[in-house]
Amino acid sequence: QGTPVVLGIESSCDETGVGLVRDGRLLGHAVASSMEEHARFGGVVPEIAARAHVHAFTPVVHRALTEAGLRMSDIGAVAVTTGPGLSGALQVGLAGAKGLAYALGVPLYGVHHLAGHVAADTLAHGPLPDPCVVLIVSGGHTSLLLVRDLARDPITHLGDTLDDAAGECFDKVARVFGLPYPGGPAIDRAAREGDARAVTFPRPLTGPRDDPYAFSFSGLKTAAARWTERHRGQALPVANGAAALQEAIADVLTRKAVAACTAHGVGTLVVVGGVAANSRVRALAEERCAAAGLTLRVPPLKLCTDNGAMIAAIGDLLVRAGAAPAPLDVSIDPSAPL
Ligand code: KG4
Ligand code: ZN
Repeated sequence: QGTPVVLGIESSCDETGVGLVRDGRLLGHAVASSMEEHARFGGVVPEIAARAHVHAFTPVVHRALTEAGLRMSDIGAVAVTTGPGLSGALQVGLAGAKGLAYALGVPLYGVHHLAGHVAADTLAHGPLPDPCVVLIVSGGHTSLLLVRDLARDPITHLGDTLDDAAGECFDKVARVFGLPYPGGPAIDRAAREGDARAVTFPRPLTGPRDDPYAFSFSGLKTAAARWTERHRGQALPVANGAAALQEAIADVLTRKAVAACTAHGVGTLVVVGGVAANSRVRALAEERCAAAGLTLRVPPLKLCTDNGAMIAAIGDLLVRAGAAPAPLDVSIDPSAPL
């Protein structure tokens, strides 16, 4: 019968995502987002996110199936994010996944959200080389990982942010600059008209005695707030601030990621997560990987941000590796470690 079609479900934050993958191939996916409902609060409101998942769940499953030209009865396994993420939001996805798996009589796989982000790239570029270094940069995470066989080996944590995630920094500084939520895309857009050299922002944890793979972004937020304060009563040159902030974040992220590859003798860098959508992060990663003789892999934008295809992708890898399914009483793990 060959490998089964895996239905992947993602609901850890504000995106309800459903994807269908078989044998490493993306067959179809759909996403609904409650982002606009959170905009006026300047960040994701857990209660609103959970309610939006309940609202969107079944229609998004339907849309993904329709896009793939498949029927419910074609699903051979269900994979779902069990953590990390917002508790109420995760509960909705897991409850839906259990219902589907039980009704269809197919195995259920509980997966780690970040393993999903890593697996997303396999849908675009095929199997990951073993080993590779993965930079995960999103609103909730900023980590450098050493990845071997995604389905079999534990992921090694090389470094992590000590405070804010890079996406969180984009979002918080955007707020300080008076730009809309989510801040990352807004800063990316504003930066196009700006001059990054007009403002000097720090490069945290890049000194000779600093941990080479640790990140810190809360100081950048403070620096951006101070710079904004200095313009009180004048027009704020937002474009320059946005360009300089983006440059500082892209510089630190790519410098450390390339250093991790070099130090570990790894030839491929993979950049995933919402911030991988940033135009300057992409450009600088390309430039520096080329200079260091590294292969750079960045999945297309729609696979970079939260989606169900990435969860189906890691589910598909687990199925093909013969991993044990989850019991039907599996629980969410909101603060799941990597
Ligand atoms: O991976 P993701 O969709 O959700 C998780 O956090 O897991 O990432 C969302 C984050 C937000 O902080 C958003 O501002 C950021 O990714 N982001 C960007 C861009 N697009 C999304 N940051 C910088 N530049 C962008 N173009
Ligand atoms: Zn994510």
